[in-house]
Amino acid sequence: MAEKTTRKFAYVTLLLNSGYLPGSLALAKSLRDSGSTIPLILLLSKSNIPFETYNILTSSGYFERIINIDSDLIASKAEERYQLDEYLKRSDLHLAMSKLNVWRLMDYDRIVYLDSDMLVRGNIDHLFNDHEQELKPTDIIAASDSGWPDIFNSGLFIIKPSIEVFEKLHTFHRENNSFDGADQGLLNEFFNLRGTETGCHWYRLPFTYNCTLNSNYEYLPALIRFKDEIKVFHFIGLNKPWKNYNFCFNPTYAKIFNGEQDNLYALWWNTFQSIQIDTASTSYTGIRLLEASENLQRSFAD
Ligand code: GLC
Ligand code: MN
Repeated sequence: MAEKTTRKFAYVTLLLNSGYLPGSLALAKSLRDSGSTIPLILLLSKSNIPFETYNILTSSGYFERIINIDSDLIASKAEERYQLDEYLKRSDLHLAMSKLNVWRLMDYDRIVYLDSDMLVRGNIDHLFNDHEQELKPTDIIAASDSGWPDIFNSGLFIIKPSIEVFEKLHTFHRENNSFDGADQGLLNEFFNLRGTETGCHWYRLPFTYNCTLNSNYEYLPALIRFKDEIKVFHFIGLNKPWKNYNFCFNPTYAKIFNGEQDNLYALWWNTFQSIQIDTASTSYTGIRLLEASENLQRSFAD
């Protein structure tokens, strides 16, 4: 009789400062709304957030585990800061390399990592089972980056945790600079561009699993063709839905997805405004959550 093996799966996201709190919560709520049965784990830099944020996160009930990664934070090296600051224009991502800690979560057989600026629109639990052959620790599954499709976007990826791969990544980072100064450049170099040398492989996931709509170039006919298949939106760039609602890209997009709503960010807001978190002393919804994450602007308060 074949032995029954139980496999442990988890979604993982990362929160390095309270500014992204609305994002983490909306992602978690969207996963829950999708009917997912897989637990969500939060990798958190506890020392970089105030107690109020921590209290909201623990009270939300959205996260099966909150893992403090303060002693495992990985900063971009001084030699990488130019790429990060000048080419990517994202100085705020100087700790994003901490994402590598996902490979250390050995309690799990397979992980689907999602950035906190993502919104799930349909059930994606099948990502834990899809893949022709067994996923090896040297594999990564991810969608193309919209800015450079030969590169994968590291906002969503599927991996099998492995200390050995984590250590190899760490050594690789010590010896090589990331070409974008953060995780996406390093992970692509390791799994994709130098795959023959490292023995690693990138498998491509459809773009509908990591659909980025706020970059400079969009392929509108394809967006219309695939609109009903989009499973995950990724709000890349400095402008996040919770930071600047009035930053409006092509209003055509809003019409495609929302009918009458004037801004694509409304997709995210519909989820965010459905959140209610009760701590011992306060009931948090929309505006109070923005206040707690120091994202409240006049336009929201009016
Ligand atoms: C891209 C990815 C993001 C990553 C960053 C830095 O913006 O979407 O996940 O952290 O590049 O490499
Ligand atoms: Mn992101």
